[in-house]
Amino acid sequence: MKQKETVLMRLLGKKVYLRPMTAEDVHTLKKWLNDPDVTKYLDMTTPFMRGIQQDIIGNNSLLLQHTFITVVKDTEEPIGFGRLQEISEVDKNAKFLQVIGEKKYWGCGFAFDARMLLLYYAFNTLKLIKVYGRVYRENARMLNQAKKAGARIEGVLEKHKFRDGKFHDLVLTATFKEGWEQIFENYQNS
Ligand SMILES: CC(C)(COP(=O)(O)OP(=O)(O)OC[C@H]1O[C@@H](n2cnc3c(N)ncnc32)[C@H](O)[C@@H]1OP(=O)(O)O)[C@@H](O)C(=O)NCCC(=O)NCCS
Repeated sequence: MKQKETVLMRLLGKKVYLRPMTAEDVHTLKKWLNDPDVTKYLDMTTPFMRGIQQDIIGNNSLLLQHTFITVVKDTEEPIGFGRLQEISEVDKNAKFLQVIGEKKYWGCGFAFDARMLLLYYAFNTLKLIKVYGRVYRENARMLNQAKKAGARIEGVLEKHKFRDGKFHDLVLTATFKEGWEQIFENYQNS
């Protein structure tokens, strides 16, 4: 039964698929999150990140919810994860987090593919209307990828994060179900 549920929850994209994260994935995530290039623009103080660092996630299944491992379809290699957090059932929105931990796959379009699947899950399974992000202004990869997937820029929190000896701006991005649906259709037909 458990296996059947897992299979049902798989989200199939063009290049990758997403499967729910389990406690066994924590060690792989730890490896990715030990790489300073990967964590440069990540907020490592969230309960999820702290949970992984302290290895307590196995005892806290709530932290695993709405978190998916990104797997390359051709090779079955897990290369990263995506997650919806701070989900509000009242406001129908959630915050988006995405990591491709295997750096050799940056720029291959796997992240975009995974993003479209996570947005599909947010809008069609969870019935949200908005998915938002907070992205370091310097994180050009994430910003360009977000815009390509239909995100708008809502504003900038100036000098909002102190890191590596200086203050950084955070760009507020937002993707709405309305508007995104056309982008998803184009993606499916491409
Ligand atoms: C952010 C991240 C997920 C992006 O992954 P990626 O593999 O580079 O993204 P993709 O290959 O899917 O690229 C999608 C789009 O992003 C843009 N992009 C890709 N590489 C880029 C680069 N070097 N510079 C600027 N934009 C870039 C392009 O618009 C690209 O679309 P295109 O190929 O049609 O031109 C990945 O770099 C990562 O995991 N970084 C570390 C964790 C992180 O910062 N997460 C974000 C937290 S908010």
